[in-house]
Formats: sequence, C-alpha cells, structure tokens
Amino acid sequence: MELRAAAVNALSQHRKAALLIGGAGAALLGLAVGYKYLRKPEKLVRVGVVSQLLVHPLKSGKALSVALAECLRTGLKFGELQDRHWMVVTEDGHMVTGRQEPRLVLMTLTCEGGQICLNGPNMEELKFPKKNPQNRVIDCRVFGADIQGRDCGDAASSWITRYFKAEKTYRLVHFEPHMKARKPEPLFPKDEEVAYPDFAPVMILSEASVKDLSSKLDKPVTVERFRPNIIISDCEPFDEDSWEEIQIGSVRLKRVMACGRCLFTTVDPETGVISRKEPLDTLKIYRLCDPSEKHLYKSSPLFGQLLTVNKTGILQVGDEVFKIVR
Ligand SMILES: *[C@@H]1O[C@H](CO)[C@@H](O)[C@H](O)[C@H]1NC(C)=O
Repeated sequence: MELRAAAVNALSQHRKAALLIGGAGAALLGLAVGYKYLRKPEKLVRVGVVSQLLVHPLKSGKALSVALAECLRTGLKFGELQDRHWMVVTEDGHMVTGRQEPRLVLMTLTCEGGQICLNGPNMEELKFPKKNPQNRVIDCRVFGADIQGRDCGDAASSWITRYFKAEKTYRLVHFEPHMKARKPEPLFPKDEEVAYPDFAPVMILSEASVKDLSSKLDKPVTVERFRPNIIISDCEPFDEDSWEEIQIGSVRLKRVMACGRCLFTTVDPETGVISRKEPLDTLKIYRLCDPSEKHLYKSSPLFGQLLTVNKTGILQVGDEVFKIVR
C-alpha cells in the first residue's frame, strides 16, 4: 500500500524526477503499477458521521451550530452567512482576533431579512443592512496578506469599540464576492482563495480527538474552542489526520495540512477569558509535528485538519463521512 501510494504520488507530481532518479527500469515498473492503480475505481470507506456543523460568520466570533450548510470552495455557508466573511479590524485595517480581544468569542453576528444583527453580553442588539454599497472599502491585512473589506458603518464601529472598551476605534468589515480574495498558505493549491480564515476554507475535527485531549486535562474542553467547521463522530482519536480525501453527501474535500495551534485555544468559549496555558501546554506534550515538518508548523501542536473543497454541495448533520481510497 505504502509503495503503491508512493508510486502514484511520484507519477502524478514528480513524473520527471521519478524517471531521472529511479532509472528506466524502476520508472517503467512504477508506471505499470501506477497505471493499474489509477485505473482501479475508487472505493468509499465509511469512517464516521457528521455530528455538528459550525459556521463562524465573524472571524473569532461565536459559532452558529447549523443542521445543514452549503459547502462552497471558500467554505461553509448558511443562508446569507458565510464562514469568516466578517472581521473586526483596527482603523488602519489590521485584523483583530481572539488573540488580542478574547471576548470576541462571545460576540454573535447573524442575519435576518437582509439585516445583520450584532449581539454580545450586556450589549443591546444592533441591526444594520447587510449591503452597504455606499460605504468605503478598507484595505485590510490578515496575517501579512492584503485583503479588502466593505466597512459596515459607524454604528457597528462604535458598538464594537464600546463592547471591547477599546482605546482605539475598531471597525467591522464584510468581504463581498467581487473582492480580491486571499491566497491561503503556500502549501495550498494555487487557485485556492479564502476570505478571512487563518488558513483554509474548511477545518475538520473529530469528537474523539477532543475527548482524548480532555482526558488529559483537569477541565475538559469542547469542540467550539477549536473552531472547526465539520465535527465528526464515530471514529477514533486523530483518525482525521489520515484522511487524504473524504466525501460527505456529494461534497468532496481534500486534506492539505494539519492545523497548527496557538494561544487562541486557551480562550474559553463560554467566558471569553484567555488563560494562555491549557489546553495548549498539554497539546504540546503529545501533538507536536514530526521533526521533518518543523519548517511548516514550528512549535505549534497539531489538532484538526485543514481541507480544500474539491466538489461543492450540501452538508447535513447525520451525513456519513467516507474516506476515498484509490
Ligand atoms: C478535484 O480533484 C481532481 C482530482 O484530483 C482534480 O483534477 C480537480 O481539479 C479537483 N477540482 C477542484 C475544484 O479542486
């Protein structure tokens, strides 16, 4: 299995290199194996069940748990709300996340009849139109990359600034479909684009992985803390690390890399308090990357997997998850 996978990999990605390195004989054998392998119809192996779908319309904001969502190339969409399509920024356009303002995790952004609703503890609800074509477009920065966002207006700005009791003025921006999107990490295929997520359009995480981590902690944690989109049950801890391609309903997803974890995991999603310790310290004990991948993840422990969308469609809680085996 290992050899076959290696042969196919070499064939599809580095055909020339394989030919040069392996010599003609080995290359021919590789070709024959690869050919046979590629011709084999793919098999779907059931690996789990979708137990939750989480959409985070606001970057670092509270997740909406939904029973059904569209899975687009740029991530999950529920009604008029698309995952990580709104973001809090400083006046000069720099992203503000739960790392700087942990209480962001308690803020909700929803949409009713074309009106965006902002809510937060001890705050009155604020409503404003989703579409504000007269507002200016702000040049924003997300992890050093440029991206645009339509300013959501002064009322949203002052509401958020008050909520955080911030010294500087914050603004809310919305990513519109015509705007120039961001290229995710270099590891992602060239044609992949995202709005405001840290890395990928989709993150998956299994309940078993969270349970495994919780068993090592004094205080258990829940999946919300890790901000995945698709939560999968009925599998073993960290099974998701080995699913290179999965199918859920008609949706196909491809694994790109693991999710390297940061201080944000130490923000309690119930209280909005950052501890700067757990569960990150425990994750660092047993979830560091292989030394060969240190250039990718550095000292960040790995938890959850980042995927791209190969085929769009509808996802539903209760859907079976299949690993695609070729
Ligand atoms: C989906 O995967 C196939 C096979 O790997 C590839 O040829 C195709 O370009 C992919 N499509 C998208 C939208 O990523």
